[in-house]
Order: sequence, then C-alpha cells, then structure tokens
Amino acid sequence: MVGSQLQQKIELAGEEIELNKPVEGPRGKQKNGTEEVDVRWHTATISRNQRESSAGHRGCVIWFTGLSGSGKSTLANEVDKQLHTRGHRSFILDGDNVRHGLNASPNLLEKIHGQPFAKRFGLGFEAEDRKENIRRVGAVAELFTQAGIITLTAFISPYRSDREAVRKMLPEADFIEVYVKAPLDICESRDPKGLYKKARAGEIKGFTGIDDPYEEPESAEITVESAVNSPQVLAQQVLVWLERAKVIPVR
Ligand code: ADX
Repeated sequence: MVGSQLQQKIELAGEEIELNKPVEGPRGKQKNGTEEVDVRWHTATISRNQRESSAGHRGCVIWFTGLSGSGKSTLANEVDKQLHTRGHRSFILDGDNVRHGLNASPNLLEKIHGQPFAKRFGLGFEAEDRKENIRRVGAVAELFTQAGIITLTAFISPYRSDREAVRKMLPEADFIEVYVKAPLDICESRDPKGLYKKARAGEIKGFTGIDDPYEEPESAEITVESAVNSPQVLAQQVLVWLERAKVIPVR
C-alpha cells in the first residue's frame, strides 16, 4: 500500500463504496548501496475516485493463479472480452508477455545491455526470481488499479507468500485471487508449449508441478475448475462474483 491511507467514498450504481486512497506525504528514504534514495509520493490531480466514476466501475486486481497449462491466460482473456463487451476498462498482464519486457530473462537483456546488467535485473525461475516477478507485477497492477482499470494478471505465482505479499500491498477489496484449478495430469496432457515434456526429460529444471512446488491458495476469493468447464462458463462465474462484490454494476 502506498503512503498513508485515507478512507474515501464513491458512489457507484447508486451505492456508496468505501475506498482506501493514498495521501500525499513522505514516501520513504532508503539506503541503496552507496546511493541515498529520497522520493516523495505525489498525489495525482485526477483522483482514482474521479477515474472510477467516469469508468462506471471500480479498479481492482483479479489475480489468476494456477499451474502452467491450467487455462489462466485463456480465462483472463475471456473475462477481459466479456468486460470489454460491457464497456468496462480492463487489461491483462500475462506472465509470458511480461517476461518479454519488464521482467525479461537475463538472456534477453544481455544482448542489448550486457552481462552485468542482465545478471542484476534479468529474471528466470529460481524462487527469488519468481518472487521479484510477482512483486513487480503486483506493483504495476496496483498502478493500473489506481487508474480505475480492472487489472487481470495471469501468472503461475506458485508461492503463497508471494501472492500474499501482493494482497497485503493493496487495500483489501482491491485484490481478488482466482485459483484456476486443474489436475497436473490434465495440464501436462495439454502441454501447449511442450515444456512439461522438456521438464520430464530433465531439459528444464525447476518446472512448476514437476520439480518445483505449486502452493494452492488457501482462501482464494474464487476457485474455478478449468478442466470441467468452458472458459465462457468460468468467465461468467467471475463476472457474477464481480457484480456481487459491487466491482462492476449489475447488468
Ligand atoms: S511465475 O512462476 O514466475 O509466476 P510466470 O507465470 O511468470 O511464472 O511464467 C510462467 C511461464 O513460463 C509458463 O507458462 C511457461 O511457459 C514458462 N516457463 C519456463 N520455465 C518455467 C519453469 N521452470 N516453471 C514454470 N514455468 C516456466
């Protein structure tokens, strides 16, 4: 959560909703190596409240988590489509895509920025790399939420502590965890990128579900069974939840 929090209310679909909003003030002073970092939070002229009022819905993070091949991206895209059809503002942050840019691998970075830079900032799949992947995405998702956007994230995010860290960073109502649940053997049989096969052959080390753990959510807001229902049906379940939680107006 950024800065201190101020309770504010907005009116949405005839109902008053309480929001936590950052207020201006010192953001923090940290030692970073030899560099003294002194930054202050600057409150935007256009408030989140105003952005949400013009959008006609709240901003939030819908955090899809699950095994590779469980259908996170497919479901996120279907939810995005249905929200878009209703005229809502939504956007997807997808693991595979974000790992092409913001969270690029050392290999990708090295070509342009050289080895020391790539080593420092590139991300792979070690536990610490995944933690930083999720931390950065959580921070970006928070900014999108401030912009009044329904932010859909599709990351394996296998470690409970990393997901919980993002949850804690946000006001309570802003983080909606969706567990896209599918048995490993089904995900493995889908194997859209052939990575399970490589992991079984030992060509990829530390693959989630094979030789790296996936820690199931203990209290996800929504759990969907992606092996037994179509993405359309599951997306509908998510939209109904959003209506009930007053994130979006009832159609
Ligand atoms: S996370 O664990 O850090 O959340 P993320 O969602 O960004 O992972 O990326 C997962 C995608 O990277 C998978 O869908 C798969 O295509 C690819 N991938 C490559 N190596 C691995 C690995 N060791 N474990 C899991 N996914 C991997």
